[in-house]
Amino acid sequence: MAADEAAIRTLDLGKRYGTSTALASLTMIVPRGQVFGFLGPNGSGKTTTVKLLLGLAAPTGGEAWVLGMPAGHRQTRRRVGYLPELFRYQAWLCAREVLALHCRLAELPRPSWPEEIDAALATVGLADRGTDRVATFSKGMQQRLGLAVALLGDPELVVLDEPTSALDPVGRHDTRTIIRELRDRGCAVFLNSHLLSEVEQVCDRVAVISRGRMIASGTIEELLGGDTVRLRLGGVDARVRAALERHGIRGEEDGWISVGGVDRESVPDLVAEVVSAGARVYAVEPAHQSLEDRFLALLQSENG
Ligand SMILES: Nc1ncnc2c1ncn2[C@@H]1O[C@H](COP(=O)(O)OP(=O)(O)OP(=O)(O)O)[C@@H](O)[C@H]1O
Ligand SMILES: [Mg+2]
Repeated sequence: MAADEAAIRTLDLGKRYGTSTALASLTMIVPRGQVFGFLGPNGSGKTTTVKLLLGLAAPTGGEAWVLGMPAGHRQTRRRVGYLPELFRYQAWLCAREVLALHCRLAELPRPSWPEEIDAALATVGLADRGTDRVATFSKGMQQRLGLAVALLGDPELVVLDEPTSALDPVGRHDTRTIIRELRDRGCAVFLNSHLLSEVEQVCDRVAVISRGRMIASGTIEELLGGDTVRLRLGGVDARVRAALERHGIRGEEDGWISVGGVDRESVPDLVAEVVSAGARVYAVEPAHQSLEDRFLALLQSENG
């Protein structure tokens, strides 16, 4: 994919702070018009990556392009919406004033401001709070305002660093809807989040980083790798285990063995196989492997 076709492209992108490596050799492509989830434990380098992409920090290695231009390019900035991880808007301004300030910073034509601001406030559910001061906003309302700022000016890429950490379930649902609407109109979304069930619902692709290194990436389907079946078995000897291993054992917990790569149609075959290998079958449950399960397994194998 050529650089200008991707929303984001990085090549061996890295960031060191002194002797510690916050990000090492990140190479990835975020296609335009898709929702991309960027996952990793605390301190793994997600916010660092966002800062490098937006030109808020300088890389110590590699390169990054955003919307076809080198990361941080002035002209690209106005085509990108950004919700920072830790932000505080001026407490003495009202919501409309905060948004007007950002319209000015984005150099949007002044006559378009009222319409832009009305639309952004309505989208995030703050239409009736526009003239209230930020100081009177709850944490979740401030996060909604942050999202409104990111939506100004019809961006081609929106970068959201944990957009729902302070939101109630309705706010989270609304945010998923907003993200899908952005995608529907061709805007790419780069999303950092710890809320993996949300990521699973809304993202087309994900990348997982751990200690500054990418350890997995792909579509959600690729990452989850098909269905899982949980079995409760007796008489599990080497032969039974070999039969299970042919499908791939995904985990063992509380007497259940999870086997991967089995679609629903082939469950009876799997059962016949383990029975003929000598196992006694007490229970069989097709189980959906969640992104959270997969994420934890990836980190376990990385750290183990
Ligand atoms: N300005 C800085 N100076 C020194 N070290 C930093 C700086 N910013 C980040 N780091 C370090 O870089 C690493 C990655 O931090 P980063 O903020 O990117 O993590 P994160 O994945 O966003 O974590 P979280 O999920 O907690 O937001 C951490 O070890 C952090 O301590
Ligand atoms: Mg972070």
